[in-house]
Amino acid sequence: MKATQDLTEIRRALDASTMLPHEIDQALPLIEEIHELKKRKKAVILGHNYMTPDVYHGVSDFIGDSLGLARLAAETKADVILFNGVHFMAETAKIVNPDKLVLIADLEAGCSLAESITGADVRELKRQHPGVPVVTYVNCSAEVKAETDVCCTSANALEVVESVPGDAVIFLPDEYLARNIALQTKKKIISWEQGKCMVHEQYSGEDVRNTRKQFDDLVVISHPECDTDVTGESDFAGSTSQMANYIAKSEHKNIMLITECSMADNLRVQFPDRNFVSTCHTCPHMKKITLEKVRDALLYDQFEVTVPEHIRVPARASVDRMLEIG
Ligand code: 13P
Ligand code: SF4
Repeated sequence: MKATQDLTEIRRALDASTMLPHEIDQALPLIEEIHELKKRKKAVILGHNYMTPDVYHGVSDFIGDSLGLARLAAETKADVILFNGVHFMAETAKIVNPDKLVLIADLEAGCSLAESITGADVRELKRQHPGVPVVTYVNCSAEVKAETDVCCTSANALEVVESVPGDAVIFLPDEYLARNIALQTKKKIISWEQGKCMVHEQYSGEDVRNTRKQFDDLVVISHPECDTDVTGESDFAGSTSQMANYIAKSEHKNIMLITECSMADNLRVQFPDRNFVSTCHTCPHMKKITLEKVRDALLYDQFEVTVPEHIRVPARASVDRMLEIG
C-alpha cells in the first residue's frame, strides 16, 4: 500500500498515534531530512507493518506485509531499496533485484525463525524424505530459500502448499504455521520443531479466553505464527495485512490483536474509533530499525545486503514461484 509523502498528513498521523508531542517534535526534522535524502538518492523505502509509528507513517513510500513488500520490491524502478523490516525481508528484495543497491538500517535485525534452520538442515530433511516438495516460509535465509521448491508467506501458505504435487510437504521453518496449515489441508505436513517466532510463541489460548470474559463484543484476530490453541480461539488468523483488511471490513469496536505491538499502534491511526484492548509483545529485531539509523542508512549507503550468485539464483526460483502463485 502506498504511504503518504505529505508532511502535514504525516504530522496528523503521528498526532493520532501513540507518540507523545515531544517525541513528534523530535522526529519531524529527521523525517524531513530522510525525505530529502530519499529524493536525492532515488531511493524507495519499504516499511513492514511492525515498524514503529515514526518509521512506518513518517518515511515509508510503501507499507505492508512481507508478501506485499516482496511484490513491490520485485516491481520497483528505484535505484536504491531501503527495507525497513528485518534482514530476511531485505535479502528477499536483493534476491529479486541483483543490480540494485539494497540497504537495511541495522544488519542485526534478524528473526528467530530465520535463525532456527540452515541450508544443511534442509538438505538433511530432503535426504530423509526423498521426492517430497519443500515449501519454506520467507522468514528464512537466502541459503535456505536456495534449497526450497517454493517460498510462501503467512498470506498464501495454504495456497502454496496446495499448489505443489504429491500428498506430503516439507514445510519449514515455522512449527506453528505448519500446525495451522495442517488443520486446513489433507496433505501430510512434515515440519521443523525448532522453528518458532519468539514474539508469537508467547501468546496462549488462555490469554484469549481471559480477555473474552471482559468484553461482550470482542473480535479476536491473530497471526498464524501463533500456536493452534491461539488461532483456534480466534475469529480470524492471517498475515499482518490480512489482519488490517479484516478490521477494515468488520464493525467490531473492541479488538484483540494477537501480534507484534507496533501493528496495533499503527492501526490506531487508521481506525481511531476502534478499541485495541490487549497487551502485546514486541519483536526486538524489528525494533532495531529507528529513524536515526534510517537517516544514516541513506546518508552513508549502509548497510548493504548482498547474496552470492550461486545462492541467489536458486533462491530466486523459489521466490518467483511464490510470486507467480498469485
Ligand atoms: P507478515 O508476512 O504477516 O507481514 O509477517 C511477517 C512476520 O515477520 C510476522 O512475524
Ligand atoms: Fe521473526 Fe517473529 Fe520478529 Fe516476525 S515477529 S521478524 S517472525 S521474530
